[in-house]
Amino acid sequence: MTAKIISGTEVAKEIREELRQEIAGLKEKHNLVPGLATVLVGADPASQSYVGGKEKTSIELGIYSERHDLPEETTQDELLALVDRLNKDPKIHGILVQLPLPKHLNETEVLFAINPQKDVDGFHPVNVGKLMIGEPDYLPCTPHGIQQLLIRTGVQVEGAEVVVVGRSNIVGKPIVNILLQKRAGANATVTICHTGTRDISFHTRRADILIVAAGRPKAVTADMVKEGAVVIDVGVNQVGTTAEGKRILVGDVDFEGVKEKASAITPVPGGVGPMTITMLMVNTVKAARLAAGLA
Ligand code: GUN
Repeated sequence: MTAKIISGTEVAKEIREELRQEIAGLKEKHNLVPGLATVLVGADPASQSYVGGKEKTSIELGIYSERHDLPEETTQDELLALVDRLNKDPKIHGILVQLPLPKHLNETEVLFAINPQKDVDGFHPVNVGKLMIGEPDYLPCTPHGIQQLLIRTGVQVEGAEVVVVGRSNIVGKPIVNILLQKRAGANATVTICHTGTRDISFHTRRADILIVAAGRPKAVTADMVKEGAVVIDVGVNQVGTTAEGKRILVGDVDFEGVKEKASAITPVPGGVGPMTITMLMVNTVKAARLAAGLA
């Protein structure tokens, strides 16, 4: 079997078109323009590229975008002061502090300082807790994008055996909580594997849907995948640079091998990546609605 390619680029385009119309309607009927502030500390090239993509997409969709690029040596107090200012700014409905932060900064304290109503990443403990009890305001962008990819490409999620490789707070843990919810597009049986798992293949070979966010190229190879499984590759690993200086990226899944066994697979790039940015836009529009009492 050669797998169908699940195009995040295509699905993201479809959602962005819906959003563009919604944003135009908010402006026309309520004179409401959703506003997003992105904060980047330091000059990590991957983070710069991600924040650039978020800014570009906001502008394309008609979202007011404010970018705050701070130097590497920014102090914790300076960063907290900026977050406080953005918390109080009525033009700003969503605040995104790009992670990881430089080592000298306390990431947890910064995430806790963001007003939960403006936490469009869904990383504040209030939002993490709301998801856990099935009452979410904002779903974290990457896992929400994965769920939308599955739903919108017709993958049967309800009742499926889902195995997740990787337990990060950004992907692994929230995708488990999302797909566990007792509702349409979820209601799956979920297993999470990590570096402490005794026999990862034992679990991955049982998966109808295998979600890989391990942070390592070829963490999943064909022998670890069940015939006909749907494979979602969340990895973004830079393995080199082209002659023009562009980053060469691969996922966490051995794409060439696994595509011969899976029924469907996401590519890298063009799979989960475009969905993450799009779901950030979805959350920003939701934040603007909630702030205006229009939810
Ligand atoms: N770094 C990697 N993924 C993310 C994300 O979804 N949000 C933020 N803020 N930083 C990230």
